[in-house]
Amino acid sequence: MTEENFIPKAYCKTIENGSFSWASPSNIALVKYWGKKDHQIPENPSISFTLDYCKTATTLSFSKKETSEDYAFEIFLDGEKKEDFKPKINTFFKRIEVYLPFLKTYQFKIETSNSFPHSSGIASSASGMSALALCLVSLDNAMSTVKMSQDEFNQKASFLSRLGSGSACRSIEGDLVVWGEHAQINGSSNLFGIKYEHEVHPVFKKFQDTILLVDKGEKQVSSTVGHNLMHDHPFAKRRFEQAHDNISKLMSAFKTGDINTFIDIVESEALTLHAMMMTSMPYFILMKPNTLEIINKIWAYRANSESKICFTLDAGANVHVLYPEREKESALKFIKHELIEHCQNEHYITDQIGFGAKAIIN
Ligand code: PMV
Repeated sequence: MTEENFIPKAYCKTIENGSFSWASPSNIALVKYWGKKDHQIPENPSISFTLDYCKTATTLSFSKKETSEDYAFEIFLDGEKKEDFKPKINTFFKRIEVYLPFLKTYQFKIETSNSFPHSSGIASSASGMSALALCLVSLDNAMSTVKMSQDEFNQKASFLSRLGSGSACRSIEGDLVVWGEHAQINGSSNLFGIKYEHEVHPVFKKFQDTILLVDKGEKQVSSTVGHNLMHDHPFAKRRFEQAHDNISKLMSAFKTGDINTFIDIVESEALTLHAMMMTSMPYFILMKPNTLEIINKIWAYRANSESKICFTLDAGANVHVLYPEREKESALKFIKHELIEHCQNEHYITDQIGFGAKAIIN
C-alpha cells in the first residue's frame, strides 16, 4: 500500500447536498507513539485499546457551491460556532485534498459534540479527527464509481485521520489497533492503523479504563511540539527500538494471558513517554503531584492484594487506570475510596474497551 492508492480514480456522480454522521471513539496507547517524520509518519509502531464511552459525534452537512477556489466550512461544538477550531481543520483539509479532490467544491457545516466535557483535559483530537474523516470518506465513497469494501473504507478513514492527528488513525476500529510497521505483524503500516488480529487471551477482553482527571487545564505542551522534541533527542534512537521490542513482548503476553508482563510494559511505556519529555531540550514535567500520588497508591494496592490494576498516561497529568473486567467491582471501590481525592473536583470517567466507530443513521 502506498499513499497513491488513496487517490480516488473517478467519481461516477456528484451529489448536490446531504449529510453524513459518525460517532468515533478515543483510544489509549499501550505502546506509545512519540516522535514523527514528515507527513505524520510515526518513528515507531504503537498499539492501543479503543475506548467505548469517550467519543465524538460529528455530522458533516454539505452543499455544492458555485466557485471552487478555497475551502468553505463552518464548525460548531455543541451548537456553538468555533472560529478557533478553523486553522486546524484548514491544515487538515490542505493535507488531505489530494485524496479527496472534491473538498473545495462544497460548502460544509461540521457539527460536533463530545461525550466527555471539552474542558476535561481529555484530548478530543483522536475521536474528533477520526469522526470527521469518516464523514468525508462516506461522501467520497458515495460518489465513487467503484464502491469501497469495508476494509478499504476503514483503511482510507484511518489514513486520512492520521493526517489530522496521528493517534486518530487508531480510532476507526477496535478493540486493539496497531499503527506503524512491526516485523511480527503482517499488514502493519505507517500509513494507517489496523485491527490487531493475533491471538488475545480472554483476560484482555473487556478491559476497563477509568480516567482520573487530575488536571483539566490546557495542555502545557501541544503534541506537535512534543513530537518535534524527539528530533534531536539524545535517547530517541534507543526509544524507537524499544517500542518495537515492547510490542513483541506485549504480543506474547496477549497470547498467553501474562498480565504481569502486560503491566510491566504498559507502565514502563507511560513513564518512558514522560521521561522523553523530561529529557528533551527544552524539558517538561507534565505529571502533577497528584499524578504521582495516584501511581504510588496503585503500586501499594497491587503489592497488598491480588489485583492486576495498573496505569498508563497520555501526554499530560491525567491517569488512565486499567484493570480486567473481573476486578471491576473491587477496582472501582479502590478508585472511589483512594484515588478520586487526587482528581480535580473529584472528576473521573469510567470507560472500557470498545470496538470502533459507528455510523449514525439520521
Ligand atoms: O496524535 P497526537 O499527535 O496528538 O499524539 C498523541 C501521542 C500520545 O497520545 C502521547 C501517545 C499515543 O500513542 O497516543
